[in-house]
Amino acid sequence: MLVRAPEVVLPTESAVSRAKIELERALGPSQVDTSEATRESFARDESEAIGRLPDAVVHARSAGDVAKVLRIANECGVPVTPRSGGTGRTGGAVPVAGGIVLSTATLADVKEVNADELVAVVQPGVITGALHELLEREGLFYPPDPNSLKNCMIGGNVAENAGGPRAFKYGVTREYVLGLESATMSGDLIRSGKRTVKGVTGYDVTALLCGSEGTLAVFTEVTLRLVRKPPEVATVLALFSSAEAAARSVSGIIAAGLVPRCLEMMDARTLTAIRAQKVPVDARASAMLLIELDGAEGETHAMLERLGEKLTACDGIIDVVVAQDAAQRDRLWEARRMLSPATRKLAKFKLSEDVVVPRSRIAELLVRVDEIGERENVMHLTYGHAGDGNLHVNFLWNDDSEREAIDRALLSLMKTTIALGGTLTGEHGIGVLKADYLPLEQSPELIALQKDIKRVFDPKNLLNPGKIFPTHGHKAC
Ligand code: LAC
Ligand code: ZN
Repeated sequence: MLVRAPEVVLPTESAVSRAKIELERALGPSQVDTSEATRESFARDESEAIGRLPDAVVHARSAGDVAKVLRIANECGVPVTPRSGGTGRTGGAVPVAGGIVLSTATLADVKEVNADELVAVVQPGVITGALHELLEREGLFYPPDPNSLKNCMIGGNVAENAGGPRAFKYGVTREYVLGLESATMSGDLIRSGKRTVKGVTGYDVTALLCGSEGTLAVFTEVTLRLVRKPPEVATVLALFSSAEAAARSVSGIIAAGLVPRCLEMMDARTLTAIRAQKVPVDARASAMLLIELDGAEGETHAMLERLGEKLTACDGIIDVVVAQDAAQRDRLWEARRMLSPATRKLAKFKLSEDVVVPRSRIAELLVRVDEIGERENVMHLTYGHAGDGNLHVNFLWNDDSEREAIDRALLSLMKTTIALGGTLTGEHGIGVLKADYLPLEQSPELIALQKDIKRVFDPKNLLNPGKIFPTHGHKAC
C-alpha cells in the first residue's frame, strides 16, 4: 500500500525533549545523534516506504544500552524503531512515527564460533556475508543467504526471518536461530532458547521473536546453529523458451528426487534487465533457471547427470550450461544478486513483492501477473526462488500519477496469491507496505490474538509502531 502513510500516534514535543535529555544522560551525548543528516539517512530503508524524520538516532554500544533506550522510550512515551543493516524491503526499519531510531549496527562482534558444537554466538550488527566468509574458512556453513548479504545484518535477518536462494534445501533463518538475548520495552534483557539441538522448555519464545519484525523486542545477541560446509557445489544454468516452461520444469526436477540447494527463476523481462547490465544471455532465452547442487565429496557428479537428463527432456528447454569453475559460478551468482539493483535502474520507483504460491501453481501465477500488468498498464518483471514458490514480482513506475494503478495491481496480486493457496510474504515481511493486506490472509481472530501478544510485550505500542497490523480499517478486504 503506497498511497497512504500508516495512521500512527506521534509523540508530543515534550515527550521527545524529555527522552533526548534522558538518553544523553544514560548513554552520553556521543551516542545520541540529532544531526539533520543522520536523521535523514535513518528515515529510509531499501524499500519505497516513506518514513517520518526521527527525532534522534541512538547508536548502541552494548546490550545494556539497548535495554536503557527501550526503558527510556517506554517511560517517556516515544516510539522507537530498531534497525541494523537497513536493507529491508517492506519498511521494517523505517520510523513511521518519528521518535527514536535505535541502531544495533555498532554491536558487531562474533563472540564465539564452536566447531564441535556447531554453534556461533554473534551480535546483531554482524554482516551476514562476512559471517559466511569467516565460517567457511573454518569448514563451517551458515546457510541463510538473503541477496543483500554484503550489507544486511544478522539482527535484521532474525527480525524478518530472512530467506534467500538456499532456503529451498536448507530452510530460512528461524531454522538456524537456537537462542536469543533480547531487550524488552520494560528495559530488561531476556534470554530465550538454547544452544543445544534439542530443547523444549516452555513456550518457544525464540521462534516467536524471530520474524516479529522488530515489534516485540530488540535482539542483543543471537545463538546460531551451523552445519558443516558442503565440500562440493555445482551450478547449472538452464535456458527456456518461456517462463511457464521453466516453472513447469521445477516441479519435474523435484519429482525426480533431486534436492538442489537453489532453484532460481528469471522471466523474459528480467533477462532483458540482466542483458542491459552487459551480462551476456543467449538471445533465444525467455526464461532462465539457476540451479545449484551441493553435497559430500563425489556426490554431486551423479546428481548433475540426473539433473542434465531431466532438463534436456523438458518442454521448451533451449540450453543447459554447467559452470566449469568457482570463478564462473561466482559470475553467475553475481548476475543473480545484482538483479535487485539492476531492476531499480529500469524506473524511478520499484516495489519488489515476495509472494509465495504452491510450486505447482507458479506457472498460473506468472500468467495472472501478466494479465494484471496488462490490465493496469504497469511495468513488471518476475524472478525469484522458484523452488520455494517464492517469487519477486516487481512493479516499476516513474511518475506519482501511476501510483493508483500500482496499488490496484498490488491488491490484485495479493488476492491472486491467496486464491492460489499462497501467502503474502515469503521473506521480506509485512512491514508497513503490506500491513493493509494482512486481513486478506489472516482471520480477524488471528490478527486479534497477535495484537494481544504485541500488547504483552509493548503495552503502549511504542516499539516499531505502524508495522504488520493494518492501521486503516480493512481497505484490502
Ligand atoms: C532477492 C531479494 C529481493 O531475492 O529477496 O533478490
Ligand atoms: Zn529473495
